Amino acid sequence: MKLPRLAYNWLSTAGAIIAVSTALLILFSLLLSIFGHVDNPYLGIFIYMVLPPILFIGLILIPLGMWRRWLQIKRGERMEMEVKWPYIDLNKRTHRNAFFIFIAGSLVFLMIGAVVSYQAYHFTESVRFCGTTCHAVMNPEHVAYQNSPHARVACTDCHVGSGAGWYTKSKLSGLYQVYAVLADVYPRPIPTPVRNLRPAQETCEQCHWPQQFFGAQQRQFNHYKYNDSSSHWPINMLIKTGGGDPKTGQVAGIHWHMNIGFRVEYIARDEKRQDIPWVRVNDRRTGRITVYQDENNPLTEEELRAATPRVMDCMDCHNRPSHIYNSPDYSIDLAILTGQIDRDIPDIKRVAVENMAREYGTHDSAITEIANSMIDYYRVNRREAYEKMRVQIDEAAVATQKAFSNNIFPEMKVRWSAYPNNIGHFTSVGCMRCHMGNHKNEDGVAITHDCDACHIILSQGQSDSILVSTTARGFEFRHPEDIGDAWKEMGCFECHSGVQP
Ligand code: HEC
Ligand code: HEC
Ligand code: HEC
Ligand code: HEC
Ligand code: HEC
Ligand code: HEC
Repeated sequence: MKLPRLAYNWLSTAGAIIAVSTALLILFSLLLSIFGHVDNPYLGIFIYMVLPPILFIGLILIPLGMWRRWLQIKRGERMEMEVKWPYIDLNKRTHRNAFFIFIAGSLVFLMIGAVVSYQAYHFTESVRFCGTTCHAVMNPEHVAYQNSPHARVACTDCHVGSGAGWYTKSKLSGLYQVYAVLADVYPRPIPTPVRNLRPAQETCEQCHWPQQFFGAQQRQFNHYKYNDSSSHWPINMLIKTGGGDPKTGQVAGIHWHMNIGFRVEYIARDEKRQDIPWVRVNDRRTGRITVYQDENNPLTEEELRAATPRVMDCMDCHNRPSHIYNSPDYSIDLAILTGQIDRDIPDIKRVAVENMAREYGTHDSAITEIANSMIDYYRVNRREAYEKMRVQIDEAAVATQKAFSNNIFPEMKVRWSAYPNNIGHFTSVGCMRCHMGNHKNEDGVAITHDCDACHIILSQGQSDSILVSTTARGFEFRHPEDIGDAWKEMGCFECHSGVQP
């Protein structure tokens, strides 16, 4: 089969070889990943990100080579041609062949292109791609995510949302991230909050929306004390989640902040939004605007002028819906509650928390040291328990290692204290950023610090002395250890930092 003279040049030939072989390679890899169920993110990167540009370069080389040849001929054999531009004459067999090859080739490439770009879209939006491609970097978020209530929600449902605009935006910022990983210049830990996260209305509210909130939620918080018998101290509470839609008559409770009729704004002093000296409430129904200032630490005029208030949304309380790094105190309580750690081992809560919280250089060294140090402690100091409960002590060490692996990532410097959780006020300041009782408006009225505003205590204390609330207000909080009135004057988080207070 003969082709036009112009096609016979090394550049076009090389282009054709590159294009055809990459096309075949793409086709083969696609079939492999679809029908062979090969589940490897690197194969995806290869098919959707490396090969298509090569294919494209190959295709471009073909006309480029022909153009170069045309110029050469024009210059060298000057008068041989009467025409100024290359032309297609379907009456010539060579031209006809080239034309049909071009049409057929384009169709094939278009088809491959459509499949590849469709697959590429899904691939780059997949949990596998986000969570495991840059394994070391995203490992903490990916591991915590798998242990969270959102383990089946795709990363991109919260981080990107729907629509082409945010898709492109996220892929563009992704380009810088790829560079940061390759050049090893990314920050450890990854800073939080995420700047330019898509507003919650367009992500969270696709699945949960304020009109649908109502009622209260009963929860039991299980604590084990730092004493020899690790005694159980459960606190059973009704949390007044509340609702946000005036139409259903539910505008009270915690989700009041998300009330459709209000707008709450605040200014934070620090990057992590933990220090909030200024809050403004705009009641849209009456147009009334109230400003609350932290009387102990008010914003200066300059700070106020320089700041842009942030409108409060879901993420200001639910900042860890998916990447929850639990403190050692909480993780070990959970392990005892679920029977992974035997509470009969003396002093086990304290020993396990201490070993989980210690700073280690790497994940692997942590795993070895946790087991060695826990077992050594019992062998040396608790001879009797060691002889009697060797199996249980080994199991407790394994459970502590697991708690460590799920929540602390030395390589990325990720631990509970690096990522404060804003939902409560036990280990980090959370609600008390505004609700400590010292944010006051002009009339001296403070944002509430009343314990019963957000929850009522139904029962508290050791299982043998549980008190059951018979009053609508619930019990007054009783601190398990005698610390006087300190719990009224200070925040829990000031003493309970995630380890033994
Ligand atoms: C339920 C929603 C949700 C899902 C699903 C989700 N994230 Fe997040 N992610 C968040 C929120 C909220 C933040 C914190 C934002 C803030 O504080 O501004 C965050 C923060 C992050 C951060 C910044 C570091 C940090 O921990 O604050 C990274 C990295 C991250 N997510 C990666 C992922 C990856 C990878 C996946 C999928 C494996 C994923 N996310 C799934 C909601 C989600
Ligand atoms: C694609 C849907 C989807 C999106 C988007 C989503 N969630 Fe969820 N969320 C769920 C589902 C499903 C559950 C229920 C999980 C369960 O019951 O265990 C849930 C549970 C929750 C819970 C209760 C968790 C618990 O401990 O019981 C909270 C709080 C929550 N989501 C907040 C958020 C926030 C904040 C965002 C935005 C950052 C968000 N969700 C985005 C689907 C979603
Ligand atoms: C002022 C802080 C705050 C804001 C703002 C907030 N929440 Fe909540 N939300 C809570 C608290 C506290 C709970 C009780 C559950 C808990 O203690 O973990 C809760 C519970 C939930 C639950 C669990 C289901 C239920 O109703 O019991 C979902 C889902 C949820 N929030 C979604 C959202 C979404 C979506 C937004 C944004 C529209 C939002 N929240 C805004 C504090 C807040
Ligand atoms: C950015 C500041 C800020 C944060 C953070 C914050 N709140 Fe509030 N909250 C307010 C303001 C302002 C009011 C309204 C005070 C008023 O006008 O009476 C309020 C009111 C409330 C109310 C009373 C609603 C009603 O029925 O009138 C509850 C309950 C509440 N907050 C719970 C919480 C919980 C729980 C958290 C933490 C998960 C939290 N808040 C975090 C600013 C905040
Ligand atoms: C602004 C609302 C608000 C106020 C005021 C408030 N709390 Fe809470 N508290 C919460 C929320 C929300 C949680 C649930 C946190 C979670 O889901 O992890 C909580 C959790 C708790 C817990 C269980 C903590 C745990 O992890 O075991 C105790 C105990 C508690 N509060 C006691 C108090 C006491 C005592 C006061 C009064 C000095 C108080 N709270 C004031 C919102 C509030
Ligand atoms: C002045 C510091 C201080 C404050 C404030 C404080 N605690 Fe404690 N808390 C302690 C000490 C000390 C212990 C005993 C620890 C030990 O046994 O070694 C303790 C023990 C506890 C325990 C028993 C389980 C455990 O983790 O040891 C619970 C539950 C508890 N506190 C809840 C709270 C709550 C909720 C608040 C806030 C309303 C609070 N505490 C405020 C110092 C404090």
